[in-house]
Amino acid sequence: VTAGPTYEAIDPVRGITNSSSGKMGFALARACAEAGAEVTLVAGPTAQQTPAGVARIDVTSALQMRDAVFSHLAGQHIFIAVAAVADYRPEAVAGQKIKKKDAELTIRLVSNPDILAEVAAKKDAPFCVGFAAESHDLANYAEAKRRAKKLSLVVGNLVQDGLGGDDNRVTLFDDAGAHPLPPADKLQVARGIVAHIAALMKSHRSS
Ligand code: CTP
Repeated sequence: VTAGPTYEAIDPVRGITNSSSGKMGFALARACAEAGAEVTLVAGPTAQQTPAGVARIDVTSALQMRDAVFSHLAGQHIFIAVAAVADYRPEAVAGQKIKKKDAELTIRLVSNPDILAEVAAKKDAPFCVGFAAESHDLANYAEAKRRAKKLSLVVGNLVQDGLGGDDNRVTLFDDAGAHPLPPADKLQVARGIVAHIAALMKSHRSS
């Protein structure tokens, strides 16, 4: 499971991040452990407590998150990418604090790797679950992400329903269509997602 934001340094004291709290990813790690899974949680900077029985690896940037994911991927059956990975990072990190100079400052950003898409593209990919947080047109964007990244399941939510808060309202998108879950606190929602993953994996195995 990946969780939390990433932090992309600009210089030793500044960086680019986002307002992901890590709550949904940590709730999923907990729900997976409760369901009997051996869980490795790769977490960006967050104040969340590590759930019981979960092995946690702390990272800062998207590149570190990708390295941690790939070095722990062997033998994993399920990959759930909940982290709000920064899509871009500064092209260069200044070694020293940038001093105020001109009226304008330009920071050139370059794309970060898409960790979930890279994992899902592997020949021996685990069962891959992605998240889609959208401000509008949820069903279309979520289904487009599912197809583009070749995912078994996408958990979609509207940012106004989930980001930073304790509750969430999600819809699950899989080959069979869209399945809304009842709005609830993030742990309840996580348990619903884990139950859905378990049912899908069972039907994959028996087909
Ligand atoms: N993800 C990832 N690595 C990235 C970016 C996203 O693993 N570099 C994962 C997230 O953990 C999440 C899903 O991909 O499961 C989100 O998909 P994405 O299309 O990247 O969403 P956004 O970054 O929100 O894309 P956009 O800004 O275009 O909506």
